[in-house]
Amino acid sequence: MADENPFPGENNTGHFWDDNLRELRNPPPRWWMNAFWLSIAWWVLYGLLYPMWPTPPWKLDQTEQQHTEGMLAWSSIKEFKEGMAQVEEVRAEYENRIAQMSAEEILADPGLLQYTLASSKVVFGDYCAACHGSGGQGNPGYPVLADNDWLWGGTLGKITETINGGRKGNMIAHQNILSEQEVDTLAQFAVDLSEGREASAEAWGLFKTKGCFGCHGPEANGVIGTLPNGDVISVGAANLTDRLWRFRPGGFESAKHTILYGVNQAGVEQTRDAVMPKFGGDGSAAGRLDENQIKKLAVYVHELGGGQ
Ligand code: HEC
Ligand code: HEC
Repeated sequence: MADENPFPGENNTGHFWDDNLRELRNPPPRWWMNAFWLSIAWWVLYGLLYPMWPTPPWKLDQTEQQHTEGMLAWSSIKEFKEGMAQVEEVRAEYENRIAQMSAEEILADPGLLQYTLASSKVVFGDYCAACHGSGGQGNPGYPVLADNDWLWGGTLGKITETINGGRKGNMIAHQNILSEQEVDTLAQFAVDLSEGREASAEAWGLFKTKGCFGCHGPEANGVIGTLPNGDVISVGAANLTDRLWRFRPGGFESAKHTILYGVNQAGVEQTRDAVMPKFGGDGSAAGRLDENQIKKLAVYVHELGGGQ
């Protein structure tokens, strides 16, 4: 570095390299300085308008540190709460309308139906999916809701009744009533019907004389009769004439098991458990749903099953 400035009169810093490389003191261009001051002004203005400056007591934890509120009194949490209040307002409007309408009327109103299906999806996930699967596809031991095969009836009225009051199918155990031969014949009967084959006259005879008929109906399809309004009369007995098996894996052994030990038989160890809990009225506090929720769920389940 030179001791004397070899470029006297020049606006340099006095730092030189390789004889003539040097650092100058030229001010930055005006536009650049303008932008610089403007950004500082912006920072100050922003700090006045929005929450920014920490205030005592000082804390290291950002979530606890207090700060100035800003002249606009804006905050992201406030904005979020206002948004939520708006959503609640819209929701309340829908809920009020739903409270005054029947499930049938909701089904006929496209706007309300859309709202109902969207909001019930969440409730279904919380209260029903653990047993029936998130899409109503069923689980071992729990019936499929996403088809048009119903134990208790698939009209809105019947579905509402099911959710409101719960269901508990009842089939007696036949281990001490039927001979082994008769159990085999009847299990084969269920398999034949399920696979679309004609069942033997002997099997139909047993079906009628051994009491199966009283619950499974004269056609073995789970329907005892039909009311003038279209509702089926049913005690929740499975349809034996379709391919669907209520108790998995289905087939001969599975049918035999159900016939031998029945459904929901107290004191019969191997009986099939099939209890749909009660969600309405004085149902258990944990599972209790309000009237609107049940109405909406009935519509939701009805639509899952393709309606009836
Ligand atoms: C603890 C398990 C469980 C929960 C939770 C549950 N269900 Fe069920 N549900 C069942 C069982 C078991 C049956 C079959 C009852 C029977 O076999 O008689 C059933 C039957 C039904 C049926 C009748 C199906 C038919 O074919 O007729 C409907 C509808 C239904 N449930 C809807 C719901 C809805 C909606 C919810 C949520 C609010 C729900 N279930 C929650 C176990 C459950
Ligand atoms: C008191 C009424 C009742 C009687 C009597 C009865 N059942 Fe059932 N049965 C039911 C009910 C209810 C179910 C289904 C339970 C459920 O899904 O919750 C059922 C289910 C079945 C199943 C299982 C079907 C499947 O898809 O897994 C078979 C098989 C069956 N019954 C055959 C018979 C035969 C055969 C007889 C006569 C010996 C008979 N039942 C008598 C009520 C009855």
